[in-house]
Amino acid sequence: MTGCTGLTGGLFLNYFAQLFPERELNCLVRPNSDRSSLSHLKLKLNYCVGDSSTAETWDRIFSEVIPDTIIHIAQLRQIATILNCLKKIKKIPRLIVIGTTGIYSQYNEYSQDYKTAEGQLKTYQGSYCLLRPTMIYGSHRDKNLHKLLKFCDRYGFFPVFGSGDNLIQPVHADDLAQAILTALQKPNIQGAYDLSGGTVVSFRELLTLVGKLLGKPVRQISLPLNAGIWSATILENILKERSPVRREQILRLQEDKAYPHDAAQKDLDFFPRSLEVGLQQEVALMRSLSIISS
Ligand SMILES: NC(=O)c1ccc[n+]([C@@H]2O[C@H](COP(=O)([O-])OP(=O)(O)OC[C@H]3O[C@@H](n4cnc5c(N)ncnc54)[C@H](OP(=O)(O)O)[C@@H]3O)[C@@H](O)[C@H]2O)c1
Repeated sequence: MTGCTGLTGGLFLNYFAQLFPERELNCLVRPNSDRSSLSHLKLKLNYCVGDSSTAETWDRIFSEVIPDTIIHIAQLRQIATILNCLKKIKKIPRLIVIGTTGIYSQYNEYSQDYKTAEGQLKTYQGSYCLLRPTMIYGSHRDKNLHKLLKFCDRYGFFPVFGSGDNLIQPVHADDLAQAILTALQKPNIQGAYDLSGGTVVSFRELLTLVGKLLGKPVRQISLPLNAGIWSATILENILKERSPVRREQILRLQEDKAYPHDAAQKDLDFFPRSLEVGLQQEVALMRSLSIISS
């Protein structure tokens, strides 16, 4: 398994440990990955230290262990490396891979890598299940909504670049984690599934909901889209990974990012929580950690 120290991977492991206590699991972690959140789990975790983007790491792992299943959460773009290493040892374990609905973006600079990676996965001789989440939220460890919640709580406003009418359908990390577990438990399930959240909202509706849950008004400051693109580009160039907003996020505000999850509902019993319930849980969690005011 890759990604066990991340948001989705950690939640998946919690479910996995409840269902299969004391089960042995090989986890690929980076030298600096923070494993402290995994120490309480009642599992036999073997750590393979490396980098899931390199063939050297996978070659080393496959020389020591041939897994029945590989759960690859870290990054879809690395899939060609894994497939090439599997070819060398002529094994075809089942693959459960986390992709992204970002593949549907009209901005090729962001979607092309995912299209290429999915194309490579389609050539795999073995069985695979590709899960494509939309924007993931659910805790202070998410990359998206927790920043928005924090900003709105502190400043009582949020900029809306462009019309703000485009649709989003964020998925709770916990619902995604449960879907990974279901995919693992149903070895006959194959193919790709979009995993979106329980509610479709426009960005403006999201801000109204956030204000309701924080118990304070969130003023929506309308700004031209170009202003957002310029600011995000400058921030990204200066702050790199630490930038609070990415250029891609602003550009993609113009796209509707709502995708049905009927196939996942049917095959993976995927019934994601509503955005109001999920955000309420995230607000409560952030309050309990004093990240936002109570
Ligand atoms: N966040 C979103 O809104 C979103 C939307 C659609 C799809 N996705 C995809 O969904 C998956 C899970 O997202 P998440 O937000 O739960 O992830 P996350 O919290 O950022 O965690 C990523 C995990 O992958 C590990 N990882 C990353 N690169 C690695 C490498 N080169 N070698 C070994 N381990 C590596 C990280 O290890 P460290 O602990 O060392 O960092 C961490 O455990 C990712 O594939 C992501 O691209 C995310």
